[in-house]
Amino acid sequence: MKKNIILMGPPGAGKGTLAKQLMSALNLVHISTGDMFRDAIKAGTPLGTLAKSYIDKGDLVPDEVTIGLVKERLSQGDCAKGFLLDGFPRTLPQAEALRELSKEINRPIEVVVNLDCDNAELIRRISGRRVCKTCGAPYHVITLKPKVEGVCDICGGPLYQRADDNEEALKVRLEHYVQDTKPLLDFYAKEGLLESFNSLVGKEELFDQVSKFLNK
Ligand code: AP5
Repeated sequence: MKKNIILMGPPGAGKGTLAKQLMSALNLVHISTGDMFRDAIKAGTPLGTLAKSYIDKGDLVPDEVTIGLVKERLSQGDCAKGFLLDGFPRTLPQAEALRELSKEINRPIEVVVNLDCDNAELIRRISGRRVCKTCGAPYHVITLKPKVEGVCDICGGPLYQRADDNEEALKVRLEHYVQDTKPLLDFYAKEGLLESFNSLVGKEELFDQVSKFLNK
């Protein structure tokens, strides 16, 4: 089974949804830089204040901050069982830093799972997304409604709309994806690590395809 995995794809492609499914099915550690920043914002830490000033506008948090955060997390003991990186790397300096770090800690990246999705569907998914404030479970106002409106099925927490899930910030996030992150697909294709999947198939079918591939 492949166990040190990067999940890539544009905003709304389904990285977080798939990561949560794979994490429990394959017993991997889920490392989402977006979730780490949102936790810091919720806790009101200096990192949270800094991250919020970028995230709310759809901009990327500076590389030195993000790389430092991931280095610390990936070096922890629980990552030895295997990890899923969701939302990192997003720039060439981040990818280069990860290459060095994974050598240093002897936890090489084994595969990069890329989720393809067209822009119209990304906009539809992001504009309708709701997230549980307590456990982070993702919902959608049309395609993935909770049993009780505004309440998480899993933990009963309240659902909310992320501050960066608005038209203006999404435009900037998509621009960053094209300029800064999409070029990493070539970077990983050259290393022979890239495997792409069409995320339009729906979340259960996508999970089935990706978990079969990772289990090979
Ligand atoms: P982050 O939290 O990583 O956001 P993102 O990459 O924009 O991705 P999203 O969380 O919006 O979408 P997703 O692909 O996880 O989709 P989801 O599964 O939720 O980052 C947020 C911000 O933090 C960044 O903009 C940046 O400012 C900062 N940041 C984070 N990492 C950084 C880094 N490395 N460097 C610098 N800055 C960084 O699904 C979306 C919706 O679609 C849901 O409603 C879901 O139910 C539905 N859905 C999901 N999958 C499917 C499917 N297969 N079929 C149908 N519907 C589906």
